[in-house]
Amino acid sequence: MLDLRGVSLDYRVQGRHVRAVEGLDLTVRAGEMLGLVGESGSGKSTAGRACLGLLTPSEGEVLLLGASVAKARGRARRRLLADVGVVFQDPGASLDPRKLVGESIAEPLAIHGRDGRRLPGTERRARVRELLDAVRLPVGAERRYPHELSGGQRQRIGLARALALRPRLLVADEPTSALDVSVQAEVLQVLKDLHAELGFGCLFISHDLGVVHELTDRVAVLRAGRLVESGRTADVFSAPQELYTAELLASVPTPDPAAQRERRDARQRLAAVEGPASGAAR
Ligand SMILES: Nc1ncnc2c1ncn2[C@@H]1O[C@H](COP(=O)(O)OP(=O)(O)OP(=O)(O)O)[C@@H](O)[C@H]1O
Ligand SMILES: [Mg+2]
Repeated sequence: MLDLRGVSLDYRVQGRHVRAVEGLDLTVRAGEMLGLVGESGSGKSTAGRACLGLLTPSEGEVLLLGASVAKARGRARRRLLADVGVVFQDPGASLDPRKLVGESIAEPLAIHGRDGRRLPGTERRARVRELLDAVRLPVGAERRYPHELSGGQRQRIGLARALALRPRLLVADEPTSALDVSVQAEVLQVLKDLHAELGFGCLFISHDLGVVHELTDRVAVLRAGRLVESGRTADVFSAPQELYTAELLASVPTPDPAAQRERRDARQRLAAVEGPASGAAR
């Protein structure tokens, strides 16, 4: 579905190239959720932007459904990227404050349609209803403005918009971090349900390891732009192979005391092998 092969990404800062991601290999298989974790500044969002074609790798390549994003041009590129949906942290950011919610959701349908075909108005309205229903918003929400909705409702609208074209891949960059804990759960549940129903692949970027544990099949750990380790989430969380991962895990409390003990032990074991703590955990 999505393949990053030896991807390096640079930003230009005051005329200089600053490397944010170095030689990253990452795969999201069809229908799976891959968690991307790491401390602040480790390059998670940068990697996410490359998957959306917003940044071009200085080395390596990003393959979407086997095709290189950087090499695709014009219509082929738009087609390719229409297969990727995105939700960002700020629930309002993807919504135009001057547009009714229904218009915002219908927009991608009007531009691309399904199978590259524009949808006529009636079909579009029906699809908007269907999408609002899928994210559990009440009938009538399509005639509201974004500011008339709560943060959680806006983020669910963001999800509806991202999934309007039934993308095969969703990039979710901290989709719930700006929300109240009580609201986070409901947005994540909607994401989970939609994932189960639609079966898109998902790159789920988050610093919330609890959520990543609950949601994802596999996880990749980034540190200073490099991949530290990756594997099945259950394996990585119960038996991290790298001290950095163990430290990240040890810094988040789990409700399960046995798991907490296990994490502490893993960290101590790895620290004994690798020497003094690397100071990776915040
Ligand atoms: N637009 C930009 N211009 C220059 N440097 C940037 C830009 N965006 C990010 N960076 C730098 O690239 C590195 C990786 O940043 P990135 O935003 O990918 O981290 P992150 O893992 O998403 O962090 P967070 O958890 O805080 O969201 C950081 O050193 C950051 O300062
Ligand atoms: Mg980020």
